[in-house]
Amino acid sequence: MAGTATLVSAVCAALTEIAQGIILPRYRQLGEGDVRAKTSATDLVTIADEESERALAPRLMALLPGAKVVGEEAIAADPSALPGLLSHDPVWIVDPIDGTLNFVHGRDTFASVVALVSQGETVLGWIHDPLTGRTVWAEKGKGCWRRPLKAVSAPSDTRLRLPGDVTRPGVDLKSLNAALYDKKFAGAKGAFARNANQGSAAHDYWALAEGRLHISGYKNLKPWDHAAGVLIHAEAGGYGRLLSGAPYNPVVAGQTGILSAPSPDIWQRVAALTQPNP
Ligand code: IPD
Ligand code: CA
Ligand code: CA
Repeated sequence: MAGTATLVSAVCAALTEIAQGIILPRYRQLGEGDVRAKTSATDLVTIADEESERALAPRLMALLPGAKVVGEEAIAADPSALPGLLSHDPVWIVDPIDGTLNFVHGRDTFASVVALVSQGETVLGWIHDPLTGRTVWAEKGKGCWRRPLKAVSAPSDTRLRLPGDVTRPGVDLKSLNAALYDKKFAGAKGAFARNANQGSAAHDYWALAEGRLHISGYKNLKPWDHAAGVLIHAEAGGYGRLLSGAPYNPVVAGQTGILSAPSPDIWQRVAALTQPNP
């Protein structure tokens, strides 16, 4: 098996090459017939999603002989394959284009995502932004970096100052930016300076890791949307848990409701504002 440094570089190189060779040539150049609806009019797939996943999968498998790949578009074509593939160890999880709706409309917030999962834990995760050529990645227990090289970490002052308590150092909920996507989180929505939908879970996690976004809440937890991002945020110093309080596990089916925050302190306060059982 390749060493971790080799894996990190090889996946960064594969993501960059596929972005340049397959994804970017299709950006703002999609023709009729290059885009299809999947489950709804806003759940789209393009020729760039499918071709980039098909190009990435064999490169990932070659890096770790014996590993399998869960790719969003392969699973869309055959959903029955998901449980078997997710039970494989180790397994690569791929979202070839996250933010496909943005990609289709020529907007700039889309990314390619890869996670490596072993024994129910994401051990490595990458998010690559084709337009800037930047990649953020994390290794479990080791940290989070950005290429071109830079250590990434969430803001250091993550203590929560409660309303009216002007003497306690820390941040007010009201000063934080959030991205809360479901009525499950409705009770918390008005508590923040800003609550915006970027249309890309990958960019949300990247922004969380860099402290540009502070809170996110997702109900539906497809592994290709969350496995890499949850690790990247955690390794940057953030705190993400299911609303039950349990850690997110990328290979367990049926989990819903993940809340991410800069610290356990802030997480508790926001979780207390969410609806208990919708
Ligand atoms: C979607 C985006 C979107 C999120 C959805 C995802 P896709 O991924 O990340 O922001 O709200 O839950 O499915 O379909 O563009 O890969
Ligand atoms: Ca996605
Ligand atoms: Ca996708």
